[in-house]
Amino acid sequence: MNVTITRIFPFLLVVLGVYLWIGYSITELTGGGRKSSAAVDISPEGGEAIYWGKGRCFTCHSVGGQGSAVRGPNHGQFGEKFPLSMGARAVERARERAEKEGVEFTAVDYVVESLASPGAYVVKGY
Ligand code: HEC
Repeated sequence: MNVTITRIFPFLLVVLGVYLWIGYSITELTGGGRKSSAAVDISPEGGEAIYWGKGRCFTCHSVGGQGSAVRGPNHGQFGEKFPLSMGARAVERARERAEKEGVEFTAVDYVVESLASPGAYVVKGY
């Protein structure tokens, strides 16, 4: 029994280490190496610092040609699939949503919902 535990435990630690290493490597490959400034004020620079820094948005999103992540939608204007940048898209989708539901729904509401619950728009079938 004890022999089994002394063998399984180190094995589990090695598996966990490899798993974490692969996770961090993928993050680096999808833009994690990009450095950001320390500014976190409410400003375009602050937003960018969070986006490419602690917010780790870049692990799923790219902005136009910046970054390489494709798990989430591109936030810039990018090819035929993303004809509008994130702000313009938020305005458009919020307007569609407000018309469909007949309630007030702003672009800020849309962005906040996208952050808090990324699948909400799709799941509810709008
Ligand atoms: C784990 C992956 C992941 C991370 C990290 C992530 N997102 Fe997303 N995000 C997604 C996915 C997937 C969608 C698409 C969901 C959908 O289609 O409803 C999305 C959608 C969005 C949208 C709506 C996009 C559109 O086309 O209208 C915005 C805005 C957004 N994310 C902002 C952010 C910001 C800002 C951050 C960082 C603070 C962030 N996301 C981090 C996965 C992620």
